[in-house]
Amino acid sequence: MSILIKNGRIFTAADDFTADIFIEGETISAIGKNLNASADQEIDAKGKYVFPGGIDPHVHLDLPFMGTFSSDNYETGTKAALYGGTTSIIDFAIQVQGNSLYSAVEEWNKKSEGNAYGDYSYHLAVTDFNDQTKEEVRLLIEKEGITSFKTFMAYKGALMVDDGQMIGLMHEVKKRGGMVTVHATNGDMIDHLIAKHQSEGKMSPLYHYLSQPEVTEAEASGRFIDMAEYTDVPAYIVHLTCEGALNQVRNATRRNQKVFVETCVQYLLLDASLYEKPGFEGSKWVMSPPLRQPKDQATLWAGINQGLVNVVGTDHCPFFMEQKEMGKDNFAKIPNGHPAIEHRMELLFSEGVKKGKISMNKFVEVTSTNAAKIFGMEKKGSIAIGKDADIVIFDPDEKHVISAKTHHHNCDYSGYEGWEVTGKTKTVLMRGQVAIDNDQVHIKKGYGRFIKRGTASKVI
Ligand code: URP
Ligand code: ZN
Ligand code: ZN
Repeated sequence: MSILIKNGRIFTAADDFTADIFIEGETISAIGKNLNASADQEIDAKGKYVFPGGIDPHVHLDLPFMGTFSSDNYETGTKAALYGGTTSIIDFAIQVQGNSLYSAVEEWNKKSEGNAYGDYSYHLAVTDFNDQTKEEVRLLIEKEGITSFKTFMAYKGALMVDDGQMIGLMHEVKKRGGMVTVHATNGDMIDHLIAKHQSEGKMSPLYHYLSQPEVTEAEASGRFIDMAEYTDVPAYIVHLTCEGALNQVRNATRRNQKVFVETCVQYLLLDASLYEKPGFEGSKWVMSPPLRQPKDQATLWAGINQGLVNVVGTDHCPFFMEQKEMGKDNFAKIPNGHPAIEHRMELLFSEGVKKGKISMNKFVEVTSTNAAKIFGMEKKGSIAIGKDADIVIFDPDEKHVISAKTHHHNCDYSGYEGWEVTGKTKTVLMRGQVAIDNDQVHIKKGYGRFIKRGTASKVI
């Protein structure tokens, strides 16, 4: 099967040019003006933007969490992602404390195999570092292509590792050529504040936010960065939200340290005033870390342009309102997370590119190219000869409104209900197949496959 995409305006992280793209099988085989190639299918992309399929390196599909499961599974989650132009995701296979890392991989394989529309990989979330885990780190990097290891500095008793385990893991991951990633918030401080608010009878969603002040994230980020410097491991902070935490990253550059940073689209666009909505509505945005202040949004936009923030993900972790209601009388029981995977690219384009906050090249960098480079996905993240033909054809002017009535997430609310965005994903190619066109999905469940990743580096 071959496809010729004609006359699109092609954006990569570096370039902006109008040309044709010729695809043979799963791969881009030629790019040029007026390509003289006969293809099985031709797509007219005149007037459209053409850019690499998005990579969202922070999603939670079918995650067992806080007494329930996130409501998108591999089928619904990767399909929703494709509708919005995200062709690859990285999920988190989470070790159960006391169990092996390999048992987490097996559990996640059962969720994903045969069910995904888009391509996927896993970060391995290490919740219990010991001699057995240490040996598994080597095997996962060398044999399975799982090269990034997630740690949590919060959620004590379930996911959190202490600093000793963190250092042990960092040493081993450094030795084997991997990357350590972190949810950097101070779990003990947060637990103290949760208990304090509960003892004062303060139980509404607002107290979720007030239990995780900026200092809890800034402190843990600084501690993680120091440990990464000491062990010299490639390091990546997930879902960074605030000025205090980004300043820790900035300070580390003064001693020539590089730490990769991901923020998520909600931290750029939404703020903590949503927690003051009447009744239980604020629970829709209960996530960790919580939404922050407008000054933090300004810091994150600046951080993207300063090259300090490298990736914009989602931390997609949806729950139905019925699930959120587990915390109706106690904010600490509200499952943390919200739906976002489908709208990351369109929101960032509309609010970022269209409003002049970031360039189109930066958009490609933070939605696709940097994640591919940081996480060792060599065939992904750009439009170039030899790359997988994961391609978005996008109308930069079409307006549409986000709503739970029309989204493809398996979730009964949207954190962006009623938002009008400019720019719409029209056609998505997934490894050389038309996957989305005309608001319809054209590939079968199971087309998506596991991406074995390469080793990590501190330079991209
Ligand atoms: O609220 C969140 N972020 N839920 C998912 C788990 C995590 O911490 O990333
Ligand atoms: Zn997290
Ligand atoms: Zn997460």
